[in-house]
Amino acid sequence: MKTQALFLLGFGGVGRALARQIVAARDLHARRLGLRLNIVGIADTRGAVLAAEGFSDATLHVFDARKAAGLPLERYDAPALPALDPFTLGDDLILVDTTAGEATVPALRRAARQARGGVVTANKLPLAGPLAWWDDITNGRARWETTCGSALPVISTLNTLLNSNDTVTRIEGSLSGTLAYLSAQLEAGRPFGAAVREARARGFTEPDPRQDLGGRDAARKALILARMLGYRLTMDEVAIEPLYPASMDALSVDAFLAEVDALDASMAARAAALTAGGRKLRYAAKIENGRCSVGLAGADPDSKLGLIRATDSVVVFTTRYFSDNPVAVSGRGAGQEVTASGVLGDIVSLCA
Ligand SMILES: NC(=O)c1ccc[n+]([C@@H]2O[C@H](COP(=O)([O-])OP(=O)(O)OC[C@H]3O[C@@H](n4cnc5c(N)ncnc54)[C@H](OP(=O)(O)O)[C@@H]3O)[C@@H](O)[C@H]2O)c1
Repeated sequence: MKTQALFLLGFGGVGRALARQIVAARDLHARRLGLRLNIVGIADTRGAVLAAEGFSDATLHVFDARKAAGLPLERYDAPALPALDPFTLGDDLILVDTTAGEATVPALRRAARQARGGVVTANKLPLAGPLAWWDDITNGRARWETTCGSALPVISTLNTLLNSNDTVTRIEGSLSGTLAYLSAQLEAGRPFGAAVREARARGFTEPDPRQDLGGRDAARKALILARMLGYRLTMDEVAIEPLYPASMDALSVDAFLAEVDALDASMAARAAALTAGGRKLRYAAKIENGRCSVGLAGADPDSKLGLIRATDSVVVFTTRYFSDNPVAVSGRGAGQEVTASGVLGDIVSLCA
């Protein structure tokens, strides 16, 4: 039986779901793969807990319950990142990044260089930062399936196309569930401001909805796909259409929510222009000819971008061999449990 040590950076919704799924898959992994995944460290924003021999499943359950209740982990043996050095536990760790910041980057760059172990990240920021970060992490031992559309096999499909010497000429996609929901509301003639407030009330947006409306999260996903195609782009070279003007950046969240109705007329006009002739409104990523953009677009209702359910994600690859009928990967593109399952798949793939 092979034992693989894991260090979990982040123990929020995805990180905790991953720990539960590792425990639930123990028998399957032993039977099918002769593999035991051993969690030897867990870090959150307060610090890290370490167990060189691995935490028992009972202890993982206690940590999960404490964090779910808003409590800290029971004890902290080491500082939080960036002061934390996970490699005190050995060189052959897989670092699993389910944080949402850049503090993990130095550790990820080092882990990707190791001969064994490596990096699995659901966190997009290390891959959407400077190109030196991208090069160090993605040229090493690393998997990042869940950075574009959760566990949907987008990255693995693109890797398969690239490895088979096909030529990917265009990637289009709808990669933000929140913006897809708002696009569907606009398409249905709903006033923009009311749709934004309702999406926030239903938990579809961040507490500050401008974090979604700004388009940067969708842009990071598009940038990761573009970089996989070999485009040497940075975030400031991605053309982003935000769904609110920069002049509203200075407002408090409450003031923004009170004033967002001022955008109703302009957004309705833009939606009407893009959906003329029965086209579907999408917040679409487009990667082609060295350029990468995200913004509102009208999609042919019979196209793979137009056909999806409004809140699903889709990525469409047009290639040399798939030119008139492109490859599409679509389905549920968000959710902590499904994302954790994609992270688990990446960990197993790195162990193979
Ligand atoms: N949820 C999804 O559908 C989805 C889909 C694809 C990708 N992702 C990505 O997966 C990641 C995790 O998402 P989530 O929903 O699990 O978020 P979350 O619930 O907010 O969890 C984030 C975790 O990271 C920890 N953290 C933040 N900064 C840290 C630092 N400097 N050092 C150590 N730990 C740190 C937090 O610590 P505390 O517990 O102390 O706050 C928390 O445990 C994000 O990057 C997200 O973009 C999520």
